[in-house]
Amino acid sequence: MTLNSQGLFEEKVLEIQHYTDRLFRFRITRPQSFRFRSGEFVMIGLPINGKNLMRAYSVASPSWDESLEFYSIKVQDGPLTSHLQNIKVGDTILMRQKTTGTLVHDALLPGKRLFMISTGTGVAPFASVMRDPETYEKFETVILAHTCRDAAELKYGFDTVEVSKNDPLVGEQAAKQLFHFASTTREKTAQMGRITTLIENGGLFTTMGIAALNPQEDRLMMCGSMAMIKDMKALLEARGFVEGSLADPGSFVIERAFVG
Ligand code: A2P
Repeated sequence: MTLNSQGLFEEKVLEIQHYTDRLFRFRITRPQSFRFRSGEFVMIGLPINGKNLMRAYSVASPSWDESLEFYSIKVQDGPLTSHLQNIKVGDTILMRQKTTGTLVHDALLPGKRLFMISTGTGVAPFASVMRDPETYEKFETVILAHTCRDAAELKYGFDTVEVSKNDPLVGEQAAKQLFHFASTTREKTAQMGRITTLIENGGLFTTMGIAALNPQEDRLMMCGSMAMIKDMKALLEARGFVEGSLADPGSFVIERAFVG
């Protein structure tokens, strides 16, 4: 697809899947010239009442994929998502050319384990990172931690881990190196608790049968609830972890552009 007169890509919706009344995913065509790094986000949107309404969305598919996946909340009176949730296959989505983001390998120092810590739709960039071969070349062990209010909200994480383990490109590595930890905070399930609590009380590590956090070897990417990110940052800094950026790689990175 070529750019329209406003310099935006106009891409077609290929696929839509609704998970709950709050969550859905969709796929759009990928312009040939569109390049991004796994874990980055891009502005996408719709023309609404004569104005282009654009929001930052993490690309939830890897940088090598032929189409682009997004995972979204549905807010009934949300300016964009109240419309976006009604899209149908064949509809047009607007997309900017520029991508950016900090949940990329170059913002982290080398390490042994990569923890991808997410709540809610914050799992989206990790659906991309977990299907990138570089992730398994750079880290021996890759752990997706996903916490939501209810069990139904965890399904996208389970589905993308399954897809990764059966992926023609990374499946073999993911089957050996990728581990998934999922918990709920409101619905009663076998695995409950906020990720911050489970790191502090060690529940995450005992449940998974793995060693506790170590700033020398462990690297973390975080995306989701602002409150979770704030608390995780304090928790990590108290344990000797240092926030990284592309200009100055560190032991953890945060996606601040994310709006849950
Ligand atoms: P909780 O149910 O205890 O608030 P949301 O759907 O509101 O975006 O929240 C997504 C998940 O993030 C929920 O499971 C929520 O837990 C959790 N969460 C909210 N605030 C924090 C925090 N400060 N630290 C860790 N997890 C949090």
